[in-house]
Amino acid sequence: MLRRLHPDQPENFAFTPANLAWAEGQITKYPDGRQASAIIPLLWRAQEQEGWLSRAAIESVADMLGMAYIRALEVASFYFMFQLQPVGSVAHIQICGTTSCMICGAEDLVAVCREKIAEKPHVVSDDGKFSWEEVECLGSCTNAPMAQIGKDYYEDLTTESLARVIDEMAAGKVPTPGPQNGRYACEPLSGLTSLTEYDSGKPAQNASVALATDIGDTIKRIDGSEVPLLTPWVGKDGKVVSRDAKDMPPPAPETPKPAVKQAAEAKATKPAPAKPAPEAAAEEAPDTLDAPRDGNADDLKLLKGVGPKLEQTLNELGFYHFDQIAAWSPEQVAWVDSRLKFKGRIERDGWIAQAADLAAGKETEFAKRTRKDGANED
Ligand code: FES
Repeated sequence: MLRRLHPDQPENFAFTPANLAWAEGQITKYPDGRQASAIIPLLWRAQEQEGWLSRAAIESVADMLGMAYIRALEVASFYFMFQLQPVGSVAHIQICGTTSCMICGAEDLVAVCREKIAEKPHVVSDDGKFSWEEVECLGSCTNAPMAQIGKDYYEDLTTESLARVIDEMAAGKVPTPGPQNGRYACEPLSGLTSLTEYDSGKPAQNASVALATDIGDTIKRIDGSEVPLLTPWVGKDGKVVSRDAKDMPPPAPETPKPAVKQAAEAKATKPAPAKPAPEAAAEEAPDTLDAPRDGNADDLKLLKGVGPKLEQTLNELGFYHFDQIAAWSPEQVAWVDSRLKFKGRIERDGWIAQAADLAAGKETEFAKRTRKDGANED
């Protein structure tokens, strides 16, 4: 396929403020004179924001990196992951058509796309919501046939389940990604035949699906508000402090391993001298509400780090208002934290201080940006 700039181009392109901050953070990863190394992540973020790469977006990224426009265009047109034409406003569906998927029914999935979206790939559907293409192996062959939609994999598809996924997305819902036939991951459909002890105590969803549903950005256009910007090598004044690993803050504590892995590791290693277990932070349940006061919940997405999914989780826990969050004691923070998937987020993103300001009717920088961008209107 000839990959070239689309004939209809928008006048200009601009990153959202949060995406701009993210892009500038990526550039600081590289030594002076090597900023062009950030070309792929920056083009990718531009595509995540707009859905596709326009000429204006490619040139804007080239300007940020001090590159000739033709060099940036070479990168954008070389990698098939970059879309050089408009895609559906809701989702661009990539059906894997390589061997495993093909023999398991990929051609039938393509037929669903032809019928429900457009006869030809890379053509936007009449309602503007969807587009599709056939792609090479996406590395999920044990869950064939499969499709990548937005950021996630929808696996073990049938014509019925793909049609359902498209219909749900068209109706504004985001179906749960991962296997669509009841499998947990890529174990035999009839269940595990070995390492069966893993079946007890495993989380409800496999790690990829849990992450996708937690962040809630499966098919969302990325505006930068989804996850916090982490650039520990940049000081408060915006200057690079150090790129040396030894100067970085200590890594986050390791996530607990499944019991079976721990058992295997325990057998393989010599027992270490016993250390006293670190004491878990004391927890205390905060006051919660069954429903928002007067039926009017605050927009908790105005807190940095809170996306639609996390807001839903907070509501389910009984928190609807900034003043509730502002009143949490350290023990109550520990209680809430232990019920969130991303631990430490409350403290790291400074929810209490932000919530206190917002509850008092003051504005925070993040809330101002979010309101301006309409980032919380998803
Ligand atoms: S063949 Fe389809 S994911 Fe590998």
